Amino acid sequence: MKKIQFILIALLCATFIANAAQKPTVYVLATGGTIAGTGATQVAAGYTAGAITVDQLLSAVPEIKDIANIKGEQIVNIGSQDMNDEVWLKLAKRVNQLLSQGDVDAIVITHGTDTQEETAYFLNLTVKSDKPVILVGSMRPSTAISADGPRNIYNAVACAVDKSSIGKGVMVVMDDRILGADDISKTNTLSVSTFQNPNFGELGIMYNGKPNYSRESMKRHTTKSEFDVTNLDKLPQVEIILSYSNATDLFVNAAVNAGAKGIVTAGVGNGNMTTVMQNALANAVKKGVAVVRSSRITTGPTAQWDEIDDDALGFSASWFVNPYRSRVLLMLALTKTTDYKEIQRMFTEY
Ligand code: DGL
Repeated sequence: MKKIQFILIALLCATFIANAAQKPTVYVLATGGTIAGTGATQVAAGYTAGAITVDQLLSAVPEIKDIANIKGEQIVNIGSQDMNDEVWLKLAKRVNQLLSQGDVDAIVITHGTDTQEETAYFLNLTVKSDKPVILVGSMRPSTAISADGPRNIYNAVACAVDKSSIGKGVMVVMDDRILGADDISKTNTLSVSTFQNPNFGELGIMYNGKPNYSRESMKRHTTKSEFDVTNLDKLPQVEIILSYSNATDLFVNAAVNAGAKGIVTAGVGNGNMTTVMQNALANAVKKGVAVVRSSRITTGPTAQWDEIDDDALGFSASWFVNPYRSRVLLMLALTKTTDYKEIQRMFTEY
């Protein structure tokens, strides 16, 4: 090899290494969902979730390599309707392990949308870093015309690598919007704009490959959270029970008999319920089961000091935490306390 060739190759290698060193490193942890789904045709409504791998997902968005060093890991490959405590604990521990490394700058998690709000909130309470953690999904499978997954993945990585995303808590980026895990809800069964922050409003938007924030979460999260899953290999069983006209004590008794440590009610109005159900829940408290009142209503708090005397019954009120996130918070709360007043404090702070 001529000396000039050697010098040119050395220069190219040095440039490549220098560029790689300049770009942030983002781990993409894949769990399945529609974003990894495939349909029989580009227009068919039907599809199978969790059908393609993280490498196939990333190959559909080559532009992300211009803004970050990308490393992909397949955690699981499931429809998120099958998300479970085991995956949550595995995900939280892997995220914390990676973010403790100086050479890892952010995490993006691809996830089905059905339970993405629950996973996002669980991680918001258990990630022990202020480095960005962004969840992303899609409402159309990877094979669909105008699939929303590739754009969402690009926006998620672009949001994750931006320094303004540091310390914001766990977020969801979809449909060009940035949503906080503290108030996230899937609000539409089919629309690409399904995720909303119904009470507090979105954190910001993604535009021209950059996050534009308009608010920050006021709730405790990540490094300010008191919850730690490091030494946990299971989570307390907590069930959600809906209230409606003529609701009985059927499901309360079933949950207690099944050994549930906590019950969250998705009540009517301001977390109200039938007297029959309320009496059954009061008995459950006397048996050591923690009870949190939440509401089936989409916006507004499930507030204390209204029609139900929580203190007299030993109930806690969920305030702005909807039933699905209330279950997550109560599961973690029960790893630290069974005292209803301590649980009430947690529901006002997270
Ligand atoms: N199977 C559902 C899930 O994985 C599809 C919903 C989606 O990912 O958009 O959550």
